[in-house]
Amino acid sequence: MGFVRHLIAAMLALGGMAGLPAQAATVASPGGTIAVSVDIGNEGRAVYSIARHGTPVVAASQLGFLFTDAPQIARNMAIDGTAMREVDESWTQPWGEWTTVRNRFRELRVHLRETTARARRLDVVFRVYDDGVGFRYEFPDAGPVNIAEELTQFNIAQPATAWWCAAFESNREEMLYHRTPIAEIGTAQTPLTLRLADGTHVAIHEAALVDYAGMNIAKVEGGLLKAVLTPSSSGPKVSRMGPFTTSWRVLMIAADAPGLYMANRLVLNLNEPNKLGDVSWVHPRKYMGIWWGMHLGSQSWASGPVHGATTANALKAIDFAAANGFGGLLVEGWNKGWDGDWFADGSSFSFTEPYSDFDLPRVQAYARAHGMTLIGHHETSANIAHYEEQLGAALDLEQRLGIDTVKTGYVSDAGGVQARGADGQIHFEWHEGQVMARHHLLVVTEAAKRHVAVVAHEPIKDTGLRRTYPNWLSREGQRGMEYNAWGNPKNPPEHEATLVFTRMLGGPMDFTPGVLSLKGKGGSDILSTAAKQLALYIVLYSPVQMAADLPENYARYPAAFQFIKDVAVDWSDTHVLNGAVGDYVTMARKDRRSENWYLGTVTNAEARTLRLPLDFLTPGKRYMAQIYRDGPGADYRTEARHAMTIETRTLTHGDVLTLPLGPGGGAAVRFVAMP
Ligand code: NOJ
Ligand code: CA
Repeated sequence: MGFVRHLIAAMLALGGMAGLPAQAATVASPGGTIAVSVDIGNEGRAVYSIARHGTPVVAASQLGFLFTDAPQIARNMAIDGTAMREVDESWTQPWGEWTTVRNRFRELRVHLRETTARARRLDVVFRVYDDGVGFRYEFPDAGPVNIAEELTQFNIAQPATAWWCAAFESNREEMLYHRTPIAEIGTAQTPLTLRLADGTHVAIHEAALVDYAGMNIAKVEGGLLKAVLTPSSSGPKVSRMGPFTTSWRVLMIAADAPGLYMANRLVLNLNEPNKLGDVSWVHPRKYMGIWWGMHLGSQSWASGPVHGATTANALKAIDFAAANGFGGLLVEGWNKGWDGDWFADGSSFSFTEPYSDFDLPRVQAYARAHGMTLIGHHETSANIAHYEEQLGAALDLEQRLGIDTVKTGYVSDAGGVQARGADGQIHFEWHEGQVMARHHLLVVTEAAKRHVAVVAHEPIKDTGLRRTYPNWLSREGQRGMEYNAWGNPKNPPEHEATLVFTRMLGGPMDFTPGVLSLKGKGGSDILSTAAKQLALYIVLYSPVQMAADLPENYARYPAAFQFIKDVAVDWSDTHVLNGAVGDYVTMARKDRRSENWYLGTVTNAEARTLRLPLDFLTPGKRYMAQIYRDGPGADYRTEARHAMTIETRTLTHGDVLTLPLGPGGGAAVRFVAMP
């Protein structure tokens, strides 16, 4: 009924009167929550707007492009026809936060055409969900397209608070978040999160970033935001041959912060289905590493007296990890090229030759014999020209040894990617430009051919491509635990409650939680309680989760370590029980391989007591709840950050659990289904 009504509305708006150019088209989401309209405004500009329950969220906002070799396409546009369709389907995530994802939207395709002699064509396709909107441009004609800039605007219709991190700054995507009025946004990365005056939560991001430049968001004035594409050394920010489609511009729109998190499924839904077929060779798992020691400075990546990646160290680490049930061991610094200033240029890395004190085949055989595997490591220092020369051989080696997952890394200052251009020369690029969009997909597809999964650090942003390429397991892409080793400043107490509603809306993050010692470099304090470290395994989703601390530190805290040993990494269901961006959040997730549930909650610098109805648990079942919470006086500012109370209770679906969180604190609960 509703659909027919809107279809008729769209047809009427199209001004069915013979001969008149169409002026508007509208479409509403399947449940009628969100409505989008496309109009021809002043000077013949095509604009779109979005309302939620009839209240404007995005006021008339421009669509269009600047080109390097042709006049802009923005003015003198007319609607040259529309098409509608409705989809309601469900699909299965091979691994993820939900087993089944419903994809239910109405699509409005608007054919735009210039009314001038050029009469160029441009399609805009809107997919309208009850919790958001995706739209993309389609260039329907053959021939080269050289984009200087996208003219897409997001004209936010109400005053808003923004959570954003700066784009184009030296630490790339690893920048601290700001919480400011919308008018104080500079140039931001996406996801960019907004809380509007009426409480509506909006996140702007993108989906299916393929062979295109990443989108950043700049404030124009007031609440008017615009897209800024990541530059390329070649001049145009994007060069493509038509016909082609851009990535999707995504607005997640919900009544509150928990709803916003749930809306991130639309990023996945806007991606193409799995192109790899059977991916039973992709393994979600927990892993340990020869890693934190390098960040503390007690070990080195480079060869020498404190080289971390020695055969002896690795065998010992495998003994500990296997005894505690871990499936993987990451060994960084295993390969030649770390001596000297590896950060500077990356041209000395070999991705096939181990250092002489690291017997790679022997260590991997030992890992396999203990039910584990090494996780490969390819730090490229963002010299992708050098890496791509060795990529095939490097991945062949992983495959030959049965190393099914590789962590890649692109350390360099922003704008420091070295890529070989069409002219054969080295050019400097940004981490989120078109060149890197291509590079990452090259690595992921080459890895897939060899049944290897990829976890990228200093990556391109996550735009849901794990749906299409499920071997793209996880990535970093914000400040992770490493900043708690050497960061200046360290991650602040509100960091994780901000991440959940910003960075995590894009997809999984290899944050590397679980530093129970709560100590960084030089014995410096981490701004967290111990219980919060456990909660991170639930609130910061990743199908590969590290236990980042040193084995000897886990040996000092065996009771808390038990939760890290027990926690699952692959989920059949996810609920966000409560939350406010940057303040606190509580999540519950159900293990895919058992009837057990896990709950994690984190707070910012403020203590708070949460009352949690356990209605996510299966009715009629009893659960043994193993509760790890902040102990008396627990506080991220004092030695009491270690205070933890561990208790066991029998709880059911009808119970309410009250959890007191200290400043900078958290809690983690494992609900074991009782027979
Ligand atoms: C930065 C990564 O985030 C970190 O995990 C890694 O250890 C270093 N680069 C070296 O590759
Ligand atoms: Ca990093």
